[in-house]
Amino acid sequence: MSSPCIEFRHVSKTFAGAKHIVPALEDVSFVVQPGEFVTIIGPSGSGKSTLFNLCVGLFEPDKGEILIDGERKRNRAGMVGYMPQRDLLLPWRSVLDNVIIPLEIQGIPRKVARQRALEILPHFGLKTFENEYPSALSGGMRQRAALLRTWLMGRSTLLLDEPFGALDALTRKELQNWLLTVWQEFSRTVLFITHDVEEAVYLADRVIVLSPRPGKIKLELTVDLPHPRHQSMTTEPEFGKLVRELLTELGVNT
Ligand SMILES: Nc1ncnc2c1ncn2[C@@H]1O[C@H](COP(=O)(O)OP(=O)(O)O)[C@@H](O)[C@H]1O
Ligand SMILES: [Mg+2]
Repeated sequence: MSSPCIEFRHVSKTFAGAKHIVPALEDVSFVVQPGEFVTIIGPSGSGKSTLFNLCVGLFEPDKGEILIDGERKRNRAGMVGYMPQRDLLLPWRSVLDNVIIPLEIQGIPRKVARQRALEILPHFGLKTFENEYPSALSGGMRQRAALLRTWLMGRSTLLLDEPFGALDALTRKELQNWLLTVWQEFSRTVLFITHDVEEAVYLADRVIVLSPRPGKIKLELTVDLPHPRHQSMTTEPEFGKLVRELLTELGVNT
């Protein structure tokens, strides 16, 4: 059997603030297997973004260890594709030249990089928009472009930090369905942070729930709904049951 894509073993992380020390994560252990779609939900400040920053090696844990593709490496940069919480497109570059940035960083000539991006652009609903500047795009389009840029890092595991958080409800639903389609079509592994309970259930094979700070794993919930998902599933009793379970776990009165 292949190694898990991501494995956290008893990871704790504390930050030193100006006056206080802030324990961000405490004894966090979980595993993500190849091909899974796992969502992470938790209150604001529960260490969700810190989990991702640890994965990509921006910081080291104080305790515990992190394995990527079964390897325990100090230099984890570039092992996974990462879309940070506020991933901005460069306003002075066209869509095409924004999404090829990871390829340029890898030293791929711009012409080759553009060609590669153009081939995949239609899958991201961005065909005919390649020469537009970010300011001309809708919020949903901008997020698609930012996702495509992450995609072009060429990694099989993607970490997406609240990518749809700022979108209106309809655009968000459209992008959820689209993301599930490309996830299946290209067999990637996705770890997805959200603060939206319905989104957490709709997308996932499994939901990881973090407690308020310091973040600990409160619950791992398996979502036994079949793929492909359809918005009509959100009205089924099984879906409602999972959503209520999550809300209760998050301390929201149901
Ligand atoms: N680089 C950092 N330096 C100091 N404190 C940080 C840093 N990153 C995160 N924190 C603190 O750690 C806690 C968890 O932050 P974060 O992971 O961003 O939470 P979430 O993404 O769940 O909202 C917060 O209290 C935050 O202020
Ligand atoms: Mg965050």
